[in-house]
Amino acid sequence: MSTKKHKAGFATRAIHVGQEPDPSTGAVAPAIFATSTYVQEEIGKHKGYEYARVSNPTRTRLEENLAALEGGVAAKVFSSGMAAINAIVTTLKAGDHVVCGHNLYGGTPRLFNQLWADFGLEFTYVDTSDVQNVERALTRKTRMTFIETPTNPLMALTDIRAVSGVCRARKIDVVVDNTFMSPYFQQPIALGADLVVHSTTKFLNGHSDGLGGVVVCTRAEQADKLAFLQKAAGAILSPFECWLILRGVKTLAVRMEKHDESGRVVAEFLAGHKKVRKVFYPGLPDHPQHDLARRQMTGFGAMISFETGSLSNANKMLRKVRVCSLGESLGGVETLISHPATMTHAAVGAKGRKEIGITDGMVRISVGNEDVEDIVDDLDQALSSI
Ligand SMILES: Cc1ncc(COP(=O)(O)O)c(C=O)c1O
Repeated sequence: MSTKKHKAGFATRAIHVGQEPDPSTGAVAPAIFATSTYVQEEIGKHKGYEYARVSNPTRTRLEENLAALEGGVAAKVFSSGMAAINAIVTTLKAGDHVVCGHNLYGGTPRLFNQLWADFGLEFTYVDTSDVQNVERALTRKTRMTFIETPTNPLMALTDIRAVSGVCRARKIDVVVDNTFMSPYFQQPIALGADLVVHSTTKFLNGHSDGLGGVVVCTRAEQADKLAFLQKAAGAILSPFECWLILRGVKTLAVRMEKHDESGRVVAEFLAGHKKVRKVFYPGLPDHPQHDLARRQMTGFGAMISFETGSLSNANKMLRKVRVCSLGESLGGVETLISHPATMTHAAVGAKGRKEIGITDGMVRISVGNEDVEDIVDDLDQALSSI
């Protein structure tokens, strides 16, 4: 199946694009091409592969697959989500300005502020849930708007279509980090985004067993620049990790359905629990952007944050969980529970967290694919310790 045939349904594309049987053996699963180089017949005569930093057949398959899932023209994979985001930034030049969401995954502003700001790039952070804030922040030097929706961990949404409309009129690229929703529940390119980035470490891989990142492009010249970066800077994804993602995406549709079904149950349980002060989940009707969530996403997903009231309360409950695993990351088949203030958003600093509303009592859960009754029972017994 070619990446051009986007007509097939999502699950069919996930299972078949780039996943064709091996032509030489008929093997149903793609091969892992563990090779650093490729033999050439004569100078300059080869089968399209010269050196593994530049390209690898297992990687090619994954890039075709992910481009088809996001509806892009091409995709380029990198050694981690941060390497993918870094690759996007390196397409900018000193003096360029980027408007960013004020509640991005903590590692993203760390990269922007502690590394790229020293090379003459300028970053402005605004609450992108109001498109007017984006519009006001744009300057003559703005080249890119970088958003995450829903945000991590506050689960605030940005209207991708509205932001893309404002930016397109000024020829500013919109980049959407789609890690939380996966292409199964949110299709930023169809809503007007120019680039989509993922930490494939999360839902795309789905099994908490490999780091990776991808940038999905809407224009051939973006893909050419990123291919050049793979070659020139070398932060490529190994063939084995490409294969893990190719295997993981085969079940993306069914995993996401289950994540969503269980996510709704867990969010309702938490919202009705007397020890929980607030729940952040776009699927709850009292979420301030519930209507936008219904329009922009086809499911609400697995990510929920909730307020326990204090660091001590959060720690008391997190010490007690048994089915849920306390740790950083998200998007695996196992339920992962984390403490944003000391984990994902430690780098933002206490002042930064206060400004955006991340408290010490906030806990984030990535609802896994276990039996949902077991997840709920586990949370119930853990919360009873508060
Ligand atoms: C939304 C989001 N984007 C990017 C990243 C960075 O990805 P990686 O850890 O694969 O470098 C993360 C990691 O947690 C994330 O949650």
